[in-house]
Amino acid sequence: MVKKKTCVFISGQGSNLKNLIKRSRDSNFPITIKLVVTNNKNANGIMYAKKNSIPYFVLNTELRNYENHLFYVLNKYKISFICLAGYMKIISKKLISKFEKKIINIHPSLLPKYKGLNTFARILKNKEKKTGCTVHYVNEKLDGGGIIVKKCFPIVSSDNEKTLKIKTQKLEYKVLPEAIIRIFRNS
Ligand code: GAR
Repeated sequence: MVKKKTCVFISGQGSNLKNLIKRSRDSNFPITIKLVVTNNKNANGIMYAKKNSIPYFVLNTELRNYENHLFYVLNKYKISFICLAGYMKIISKKLISKFEKKIINIHPSLLPKYKGLNTFARILKNKEKKTGCTVHYVNEKLDGGGIIVKKCFPIVSSDNEKTLKIKTQKLEYKVLPEAIIRIFRNS
């Protein structure tokens, strides 16, 4: 199997990155992580790149020509697939059009419900009976691209924002690899 050379974008903890690195060691898993990109030089997740000798690149989105730097590194590592795993910046139209249908995102809700930020607080406020996570293609609409995999779990009365986050992320560690396997199943 020729594994897709993948870049994972992160902004914070990087627990999904950690999980993907682990999964990608399996010879049957369709991607290999060649690069990590972050907009946050203090992102904890950078340590997983370092520990696994994966090059990482800190993107300074304040710079006028930051995209040129991004395209340079994506090119350098021959990246053909991008996974947004806790990347908290909107990505540019130019990147989306260069990687059409080649960028996916994991979101901590059952899309199309609860797009955007503060999902857990809004889910609890609305007294939802269930929640979960969704992996979708990235297009120009926020959290709006085609859904690849979505899975849910029931919300119980003792749940709060912290427990919902823990349960959601536990599910994400299954759903994100499953979505990647699904995408490349027939290629
Ligand atoms: C994940 O739960 C992901 O669903 C969420 O950020 C978390 C990152 O965790 N993404 C979003 O909210 C995107 N809008 P991680 O850094 O430990 O993988």
